[in-house]
Amino acid sequence: MKLLAIESSCDETAVAILDDATSPPAILASEISSQIELHRHYGGVVPEVASRNHTLNIRPIIDLALTNAQLSIREIDVFAATSGPGLSSSLLIGNTAAKALALAARKPFLGINHMEGHLLSPFIDCPAGVVPHLGLIVSGGHTMLVKVNTVADYEILGKTRDDAAGEAFDKVGKMLGLPYPGGPEIEKIAKTGDSKKYNFPKALLHEHHFDFSFSGLKTSVLYTLQKLAETNEVASELPDIAASFQKAVVDSLVIKTIRAAKETGLKTVAVSGGVICNQALRDALQAACDKRNLELKLCQPSFSTDNAVMIGFTALQRFRLGYSSALDEAVNPNLSLADTKP
Ligand code: KG4
Ligand code: ZN
Repeated sequence: MKLLAIESSCDETAVAILDDATSPPAILASEISSQIELHRHYGGVVPEVASRNHTLNIRPIIDLALTNAQLSIREIDVFAATSGPGLSSSLLIGNTAAKALALAARKPFLGINHMEGHLLSPFIDCPAGVVPHLGLIVSGGHTMLVKVNTVADYEILGKTRDDAAGEAFDKVGKMLGLPYPGGPEIEKIAKTGDSKKYNFPKALLHEHHFDFSFSGLKTSVLYTLQKLAETNEVASELPDIAASFQKAVVDSLVIKTIRAAKETGLKTVAVSGGVICNQALRDALQAACDKRNLELKLCQPSFSTDNAVMIGFTALQRFRLGYSSALDEAVNPNLSLADTKP
């Protein structure tokens, strides 16, 4: 069975084609048109600019994916697209395109939760498929710990009460005068910094729940910068501030994740979302899991930031279980993983 999936929840227009004849499924095409350069100019994603560009990109990207997969549209058996959460004007472009193709071809359509796509993405290349695990999602819009019993059966253990981890990287990046998105830029300058120089707060660490909070950390960086500005020391301190901020985020994520694994008894930890591109986080999670004999599955960097392979992979899992979506099912910018019922 060949499945074509579209992702357009934010500022990437992405199309993937997967074939489930093998396990893991073969990725016949994976195309992404990124708008990062366009939005960098504004210091963040502008919804109107994003949806206009999705409209321009969607047809050529679908054509490119079919060409690279050496398939015609008639050879696609199932269509899927992200249906939320995200920017509604962006979601609508990819979602409507996939529904239109499904309608014209009289083939099934699946609307997929973007967060479920991230959650399952560490298993895209696993021959054994998705196993019960503790999922940590660290993306630009979300930070959450999820108990995954099986595909489509999830329990949210905790999430951020304010900023997502990626959002904190992006906002602190902006404060430091770095280009958007701040995550990779902070990682770059943190390499030459001293992570112990500033003792930034790690909120909620000692409370008995699995929620996160990064807004106090962000404010603490702001106050530190204001103080340094009085003596003209900001530029020379940037690497140390970046390294100390990064360490505070990494420590918060690692400590809560390990505690959740211990409490749930789950032996596999799987981590996804754009922030897992961060090598300091990858290394810290690996060391912590090795110490406790936990198996760690880190999503490949190419499937960590927004992409259509994760949407297609999730759609394949769900289609096998008998799921499909109605063509009149609306996109939902606030779709929650809790809505993804078994
Ligand atoms: O998963 P994603 O594409 O976004 C959402 O779906 O929300 O991830 C984008 C986020 C951005 O906030 C970006 O700054 C962050 O991932 N990110 C990083 C790194 N690479 C991307 N954060 C820290 N270090 C990185 N190397
Ligand atoms: Zn995402």
